[in-house]
Amino acid sequence: MEVIIIPDYQELSRRTARMIADQIHLKPGSVLGLATGSTPLGAYQELVRLHREEGLDFSKVVTFNLDEYLGLSPRHPGSYNHFMWENIFKHVNISPPNVYLPEGTVDDPEAHCSWYEAQIAKHGGIDLQLLGIGSNGHIAFNEPGSSLASRTRLKTLDQRTIKDNARFFDDAEEVPRSAITMGVGTILEARRILLIASGEAKAASCADFIEGPVSTLVTASALQLHADVVVLLDEEAAAKLERKEYYNWIRDHKSEVQKHPGA
Ligand code: F6R
Repeated sequence: MEVIIIPDYQELSRRTARMIADQIHLKPGSVLGLATGSTPLGAYQELVRLHREEGLDFSKVVTFNLDEYLGLSPRHPGSYNHFMWENIFKHVNISPPNVYLPEGTVDDPEAHCSWYEAQIAKHGGIDLQLLGIGSNGHIAFNEPGSSLASRTRLKTLDQRTIKDNARFFDDAEEVPRSAITMGVGTILEARRILLIASGEAKAASCADFIEGPVSTLVTASALQLHADVVVLLDEEAAAKLERKEYYNWIRDHKSEVQKHPGA
């Protein structure tokens, strides 16, 4: 796991967008796994800018979102489908059939989850998966206690997640109580993973998942078992890391470290 501490949210957003843009340049038909929430908003704005000003081409890109609230139609303003179209998709040249999100209003959610997994496989798997992290250590909606081998499925939301996400709704009572989410096992199959975190509300969960034991109580800790994970954190989210100085030393001496990999 490569842990990179970045001074502020703006720079974190730029770095995130640059990594996604590099992936698209490397493979124009990349399969991207995408997240919603406040954290990736700055990166999505930067990707829109790169599309408009530098011609970043999304025409062959395929996307799979992590999750969707159960019971919300794609047009509901609180749905993740709505979020993605408003904040990125409608501003770039992505082809609508290449956009996949779980659907919150399907008649048979279980069959839908299997279908979603099959679509990811049919597209050859996810090349780069973008993740945020919950204040309870979740990735996607894999709440504490989720199996680390879990696949796309229905999940009841944690009380803390409902409270954290109430800001996206008029009233906390409106936050759905469950969601369709990719599983931890699904996420771990992505070839490369980029987790981003910003703000002091994430400091405890970041310290837990980066430096604590692998545990179902902090589902992000499963990323320790993946061979290609980059974590970008701003100073506030990094505040509780014990080995902060070590990560900063590597960041600041990268060329030296690469010359002497055994160091
Ligand atoms: C969103 C998702 C969640 C969020 C997490 C952090 O699709 O899967 O795991 O990444 O709850 O949300 P923010 O960025 O709003 O703090």
